Amino acid sequence: MSLKLQVFLFSSLPFILAILLLKSSFRSSKSQKNLPPSPPKLPLIGNLHQLGSNPHRALQAMAQTYGPLMLIHLGTVPVLIASSVDAAKDIMKTHDIIFSSRPHLNIPDRVFYACKDIAFSQYGDYWRQIKSIAVLHLLSNKRVQSYHQVREDEMVVMMEKIRKANGSTVNLSELLITLTNNVVCRVALGRAYEGRKFKDLLERLMELLGCFSVGSYIPSLWWVDWLSGLNRKADKVAKEFDEFLEIVLDEHVNKHVDGVEGRDLVEILLDFQRENTRGFRLERDMIKAIIVDLFTAGTDTTFTSLEWTMCELLRHPRVMKKLKQEALEVGQGRSLITEDDLEKMPYLKAVFKEALRLHIPLPMLVPRQSTEDIKLQGYDIQSGTQVLINAWAIARDPSNWEEPEVFEPERFLKSPIDYKGLHFELLPFGAGRRGCPGIQFAMVVNELILANLVYKFDLALVGEEDFNMCETNGITVHKKCPLLVSATHCS
Ligand code: HEM
Repeated sequence: MSLKLQVFLFSSLPFILAILLLKSSFRSSKSQKNLPPSPPKLPLIGNLHQLGSNPHRALQAMAQTYGPLMLIHLGTVPVLIASSVDAAKDIMKTHDIIFSSRPHLNIPDRVFYACKDIAFSQYGDYWRQIKSIAVLHLLSNKRVQSYHQVREDEMVVMMEKIRKANGSTVNLSELLITLTNNVVCRVALGRAYEGRKFKDLLERLMELLGCFSVGSYIPSLWWVDWLSGLNRKADKVAKEFDEFLEIVLDEHVNKHVDGVEGRDLVEILLDFQRENTRGFRLERDMIKAIIVDLFTAGTDTTFTSLEWTMCELLRHPRVMKKLKQEALEVGQGRSLITEDDLEKMPYLKAVFKEALRLHIPLPMLVPRQSTEDIKLQGYDIQSGTQVLINAWAIARDPSNWEEPEVFEPERFLKSPIDYKGLHFELLPFGAGRRGCPGIQFAMVVNELILANLVYKFDLALVGEEDFNMCETNGITVHKKCPLLVSATHCS
């Protein structure tokens, strides 16, 4: 070694040592972070292998060991799981603003026009604008109210089909899907698009949203989604939906309708586009993304909650009898129970709350993402951490509910607990800024249909000896087998 090099190395030694020391102190300050407890994970896949086909159930069991705030790894992505009232409240109320973004996910990105929809767009100005349009103009109580005729028409059509079956087996699941699709179609697009094609398209879209995208959780393996055909499938569905919506939009642009009552949601969105209010221009892709959102967020969830409620009623004849009694008292021999009557049906409301408690259509809500480093219940949560609220586990937690596994609507008759996002024991619609804006839209359909089905028919289960309550494993958790019933017209 030359003398020059020796002098250089010797003189730079303190500098090199300082860098090494700094690096190691940085690493140890990182490792000194107080992270939430984590189950052991495998390289690359993290804890994915432990989720099984019903992640909400697997995560409930894991939380028994690791606690109500645990940090798991889905692939290489750290995901915070909240499984208690306090943890959910801290995330969705106390620190709601920090946890109000959504993670960037491959499939929603492809089908919602680069997440220009409400449900998957990142927290920020754009989301604020479109969410307020949804809350104030598309899904407000007044707007929902204005579509009462659509709901009543569709209900009458469904009841007529059941009546005509004359006691023979009807696939109630199928009828309820058709009804909710038709209601959303007529409200959003101005008319029903019946027939298999649209229904298939919607089903394929929902299936895709429930698919696991490797690239979203193991970014280095993004190419697997191409190899497996998932990206191609998503692009195909997105293209077909886009072609369909282009036709719908063109039809609307060519017929301008005056007056607010009864206008469909596409018309209202096109008005916003024309008016260009608040310096915010609603582009065509944004309108299409919002419409796709209303279908994906509004149809499957609504139908699922009705289907599970009906299941629980058929399993519990005592509750069915009590609800029928209430319906008969309110209906007083009239041909139908109307939406105005629903306020006089406290037991009906209790039945829905109880069914939504036991069967949350989106058991872990929609994933959120933190936008800042934060301390939560003493733990350090890094900015960019994905967050899942296990609302399903919270709704069955014995520390919140007496005999949580029992279907007992009466518990809600003497309790102020509601599902509107103020009581963190019951979160089927989420809470806080990202909470569901479609509660009123969904629940008025649900209550009207159930009240009238129970009022007009005696329903009995067909085929299944013991009730099959198996769940599907998509984004919305519904009953695995269709609900087959026989319905005898009562009057
Ligand atoms: C029983 C039926 C429904 C259930 C159980 C349900 C549940 C949910 C849940 C859990 C969320 C996420 C909340 C969060 O992150 O805290 C959500 C968001 C949303 N829901 Fe619903 N929903 C239902 C019906 C509807 C309907 C009928 C519509 C519209 C027609 C709708 C539109 C939306 C939208 C646009 C969002 C995104 C909100 C945002 O990210 O800011 N939902 N819903």
